[in-house]
This record gives sequence, C-alpha cells and structure tokens, in this order.
Amino acid sequence: MTNPLPDSVDYVLLDEASIQRRVMEMAAEISADYEGIHNEDFLLVGVLKGSFIFLADLARRLTVPHRVDFIALSSYADKAEATGAVRLIMDTRADVAGRHLLIVEDILDTGYTLRYLYRLFEAREPASLRTAVLLSKPDRHKVDVSLHYLGFSIPDVWVVGYGLDFADRFRTLPYIAALKPRVYEG
Ligand code: XMP
Ligand code: MG
Repeated sequence: MTNPLPDSVDYVLLDEASIQRRVMEMAAEISADYEGIHNEDFLLVGVLKGSFIFLADLARRLTVPHRVDFIALSSYADKAEATGAVRLIMDTRADVAGRHLLIVEDILDTGYTLRYLYRLFEAREPASLRTAVLLSKPDRHKVDVSLHYLGFSIPDVWVVGYGLDFADRFRTLPYIAALKPRVYEG
C-alpha cells in the first residue's frame, strides 16, 4: 500500500528508487577516490539537519573506512528566503586538522552555506576538503563554490523529503517532492 501524498506536496521530483540508485553511484565514486585511506583520516561531516538521511545512506554504501561527525548551521528562517547570513549552531566534535574531510550537504542553493563551510574548515588545515551534495539549484547560485560529488541538479522549486524540510516538516518522506508554491509563498 502506498501512502497518499501530503496535501502540501505538489509532485514527486525524485522517487525513492532514483535517489537510492544515485546515492549508490556517488558512494562508489567516493570509495574509489578515497581507496586505501586509513579510518582515522577520513571524516564525513554532515550538515544538520537536512543531510542526515543522505549521509546515513551514503555512509553505509561506502566501502572505505570512515568516521562520521556533524555540524549544525542555520541560514534560513522558517521561510524560503535567503539572507546570506550563516550562523554556526553546533561545531564538529572531531579535530579536523590533518584529516581528509568530506562535507555532506543536502542542497546547494545560493552557495552561501558551502562558502561559509569552506572558509571555516580551510582555516583548520585539513589534509583535503571536498563536498558531496545531493541536490543543486543552478538557477539560484549567487556565489561560486566547487562541488566534487553532486547527486542531482533540480529546478528552482522548494523541495522537501529525504531530510529536507519546510518549517521542520516533511523531512522523513522517502522521496523528494516539490512543495505547492502557496505553502511557501503564503
Ligand atoms: P545556500 O543558499 O546557503 O542554502 O546554498 C543551502 C541551504 O538552504 C536550504 N535550502 C533548502 N531546504 N528545500 C529545503 O528543505 C529547499 O528547496 C531548499 N533550498 C535551500 C538548505 O537548508 C540548505 O542547506
Ligand atoms: Mg541544510
């Protein structure tokens, strides 16, 4: 039995199977690139809260040893608007100096968040710094940031599910769906 779409959902953009297939491909690519790495040296840093499901799936598909940590940021109010200001809510526990860091982020929108993370982590002198981002909205980019592993490019619509939310709702939908504009514009 399949659950009906929530009332606020417009349409499913990426279904569960497509997401799983792509995450598996990304994990294979990352595993190949980090082949031979030592467990203490490879640190995945998930950006809370949006990346928690993506990170869980990606990490479990990796065939190279790694550790997991998190950082929490805030760049938005509960509305779909960018302020450009990024706030650090919770820092990582692990010391990142000398380690190979992979930032795991749900979505690249304006790019302010990733730019902030690059600056924050570069100052701490990791051995290397890369990013794995599930979604990107090319129409919305305002600053240039490099992406190393990207899941999907999507149109400029507000998406929810698979970790992504609107006002902290819809995070645990198994698919990624576009919200009805009246919900986020209203
Ligand atoms: P920037 O603009 O800094 O934004 O690249 C990255 C952060 O913006 C949030 N974001 C979204 N969250 N659905 C969401 O649930 C979306 O469509 C969306 N677009 C941007 C997200 O928190 C991301 O980390
Ligand atoms: Mg986020």
